[in-house]
Amino acid sequence: MSIQITAEHVVKKFDKETTVIPDLSLVIKEGELFTLLGPSGCGKTTFLRMLAGFYPLDGGHIYFGERRIDCVPVHERNIGMVFQNYAIFPHMTTAQNVEYGLKQRKVDKALRNKKVKEILETVRMEEYADRLPAKLSGGQQQRIALARAIVIRPDVLLMDEPLSNLDAKLRIEMRSTIREIQKQSCGGITTVYVTHDQEEALAISDRIAVINKGVIQQVDTPRRIYQYPANIFVATFIGFSNLFHGTVRIQDGKKQVQIGDCLLPVLRLGNNVQDGQKVIVSMRADDFTCVSEGGIWCKIKSDTFLGQNMNYAVEFENKIAVETEDGNELVESVRTARHFYRQGERICIMPDAEKLNVFTDDGGTSLMDRGDDT
Ligand SMILES: Nc1ncnc2c1ncn2[C@@H]1O[C@H](COP(=O)(O)OP(=O)(O)O)[C@@H](O)[C@H]1O
Ligand SMILES: [Mg+2]
Repeated sequence: MSIQITAEHVVKKFDKETTVIPDLSLVIKEGELFTLLGPSGCGKTTFLRMLAGFYPLDGGHIYFGERRIDCVPVHERNIGMVFQNYAIFPHMTTAQNVEYGLKQRKVDKALRNKKVKEILETVRMEEYADRLPAKLSGGQQQRIALARAIVIRPDVLLMDEPLSNLDAKLRIEMRSTIREIQKQSCGGITTVYVTHDQEEALAISDRIAVINKGVIQQVDTPRRIYQYPANIFVATFIGFSNLFHGTVRIQDGKKQVQIGDCLLPVLRLGNNVQDGQKVIVSMRADDFTCVSEGGIWCKIKSDTFLGQNMNYAVEFENKIAVETEDGNELVESVRTARHFYRQGERICIMPDAEKLNVFTDDGGTSLMDRGDDT
């Protein structure tokens, strides 16, 4: 049976000076694959370990369904866990590894055999039932870890960077395996998935919480996180965004944003903006067209050929870009590009106005009317 997870004002400090999680509230819906995404050290594992019961809370409460569980010991929480290092027993075969949790729960032999067989079919490992882990690939070992976690029919499945030890191709393949199995099992096991890999998060999740320094920045579907980031942290952490200094211009009720000399009609700019307001505008690296004049001028610093795309590191003129560590970047599809630009060349771009996002001057809040549609 799948359940809802509720965190209310959860606090974690490891010592008096450092608060890793200052005040985290969150609802994870029944049966959803929910991802905690954020840079290394932002507190993802810490929160997951609190859900599992390995760390006590320094404030707040956690509920599984109606039941408050922050005072319940680990083994009474009915949780399945999969971690980066698979933690499967090296001296046990695939089947024995999967059977282990059922044995501990004193499930009788016939039922154990039936369940192990079913689960191994689900993770497509039935032909390796009698193998030892040393004779299996990383991906296969991770499938066993997954099988072992779900065979006990957990209320909640917790996964902490489960794919980070696998090579790139296998990581992509395992994403869909995990998603398939998570949705198939018991009508969808409520799953909390931790990753620092934004592409993985976009690919696998029903919803994502973007976290920075223990604070949730945005909770949304992958598409909304990408299209309508809540602040410039999200806009630059999920996919690349160029950031510009801009000014709101409202004429005859028409809302525009001015970047340098370029006026852009931003249709979904919210109603709470004022004429002359200073803002930060974000533009995805490929949301522009090249024009001969009237746009924003920049100079090509270098190019990188990436097969489908050509990436250009660029420098915008007249200090209109917000200075960031990542610099500025434009991407053109190789298939549609009319010609490639050379280092040192000046080009003029016109951003796709309807794809821009506009934020307060400090970058902390989106000024877009983000609506409810996905
Ligand atoms: N057991 C611990 N004792 C002290 N500090 C810890 C402990 N575990 C994690 N931290 C600190 O808490 C912060 C968050 O860590 P963690 O939750 O592991 O981050 P993430 O999983 O997002 O990379 C880090 O600064 C880390 O050094
Ligand atoms: Mg971690």
